[in-house]
Amino acid sequence: MDAPQDGDRSTPEGNRHDTPGAEMGSRQFSRKAVLRAALAAGVAVPAALLGVPALARTVNAKGGAVVPTPSCHDGDEPTIPQTEGPYFKPNSPLRTSLVDPGTVGTLLSVTGYVFGLACLPLRDVLLDFWQADDNGAYDNYGYTFRGHQFTNAQGMFTLSTIVPGLYPGRTRHIHVKVQAPGQSILTTQLYFPNEPRNNTDSIFDPRLVMTVRDGSGGREATFDFVLDVPQTGTTTPTTPTTTTTTTTTGPNPPGGGSWAAGTSYAAGDRVTYGGVAYVCLQGHVAQTGWEPPAVPALWRVA
Ligand SMILES: [Fe+2]
Repeated sequence: MDAPQDGDRSTPEGNRHDTPGAEMGSRQFSRKAVLRAALAAGVAVPAALLGVPALARTVNAKGGAVVPTPSCHDGDEPTIPQTEGPYFKPNSPLRTSLVDPGTVGTLLSVTGYVFGLACLPLRDVLLDFWQADDNGAYDNYGYTFRGHQFTNAQGMFTLSTIVPGLYPGRTRHIHVKVQAPGQSILTTQLYFPNEPRNNTDSIFDPRLVMTVRDGSGGREATFDFVLDVPQTGTTTPTTPTTTTTTTTTGPNPPGGGSWAAGTSYAAGDRVTYGGVAYVCLQGHVAQTGWEPPAVPALWRVA
């Protein structure tokens, strides 16, 4: 494939992290790892881990009040950004599987959690994945191997795809944009361990290597994101908890207008919210917490 190299090769050195001899794809036992295991097992997470009062928060001089930790204190720093590259396309479809019956390639599942700065899971986080096909080609006309999804109530995501092919100038990688409601967008890339080109790709960063193993019918990868999102509570703090509803349409927006949770919007759709008109940038199903002013990746002022 005649593919240009991905984007800006002059990635700031500040984003580089050399760890000679590091065991790529495996991480030391950490509080986040404990959280991850507990969440995956569906067991209660010890309050000491969720609240992490001793590690992540401090009581101020007046007592009682706490401040958010600037980062997770067991090495779980915010996931580093990387170049978007030339192949991102907006308006990817909402789907967790990029595989269809005709897909060629080695099946790959990527699962993980999205955490904030206190290592608490974040729900309703938008993840937009795009990657090359088995031959190393991007679909720049359609949406093959492109899709977005949201973390569930436990902060977990699952992507079904294939191992992306190689193309000139780059090692094997998957692109992703990650955004918690109302927060800035993290654009980065995920890598595979033990790839020969990891040593020659100047964009590659070992901090972004997934844990990958052989599974039934394909390969299984895991990666947890940590977003630069302050957290002070003991539960996931992202989505406003204004109303508990069992309806599929959700509450009316507090600001009034035509926007409504539960509605499926397509790119180009127009709504009003809080007296302001917005145009949809990417097809999605609206959710409470994803009101137009809070998600610049989905809506812009018309
Ligand atoms: Fe790429």
